[in-house]
Amino acid sequence: MDHKIIVREKKETDNDQIENILNKNFGENRHQRNVYLYRKKSPIKGLSLVSCLNEDSNTVIGTITFYRTLVSNINCLLLGPLAVSEFFQGKGFGKILVRKGLEIAKLKNETICFVSGKYNYYKEFDFLKLSSKNLIINTTGDFTYGELLVKELKKDCINLLPLKAQLLPEK
Ligand SMILES: CC(C)(COP(=O)(O)OP(=O)(O)OC[C@H]1O[C@@H](n2cnc3c(N)ncnc32)[C@H](O)[C@@H]1OP(=O)(O)O)[C@@H](O)C(=O)NCCC(=O)NCCS
Repeated sequence: MDHKIIVREKKETDNDQIENILNKNFGENRHQRNVYLYRKKSPIKGLSLVSCLNEDSNTVIGTITFYRTLVSNINCLLLGPLAVSEFFQGKGFGKILVRKGLEIAKLKNETICFVSGKYNYYKEFDFLKLSSKNLIINTTGDFTYGELLVKELKKDCINLLPLKAQLLPEK
């Protein structure tokens, strides 16, 4: 049997499966978390992806979405939610989504991506702690899943960010 993991764009028909994965991982009341204030507008087109097994590409195992966020009027991305079906966690379905998502974001000429997450997970994708760049970027309410991390998608773009700023939802 072929156990290759594939990544494809999300389809309308995936919505129920995605909701189920998010509910199981973050709880049904997840929409009350502060990070959802940043998810009120539509996600970035072409960057809602799912990971599946090649042998069964209709069954969603992992899901990733990116939203627009603004820092001093600089258009940035906010990665998330990212989640993998519990039974399949730790088998690469998450990392392949992050890698592919960031690759597509670069092709779309995006410059900076934020995520609220665990540094140990995201460091392999070159996400940095804000403190390593002396950045103080406040969010609207605390994000509960790890700290805010930043990655530049275009060389030196991180230097465009003001040292002290507010991460704002898309207007
Ligand atoms: C975090 C998550 C998306 C990672 O995806 P995944 O497919 O399980 O993990 P991957 O196989 O891509 O990566 C495995 C690595 O992630 C780490 N990891 C983080 N959370 C893990 C989990 N719940 N189970 C297994 N590994 C996990 C492992 O330590 C492993 O590290 P290594 O590569 O150094 O060995 C997934 O476990 C998940 O949905 N967790 C619950 C929801 C969540 O926390 N989302 C992230 C919010 S930012």
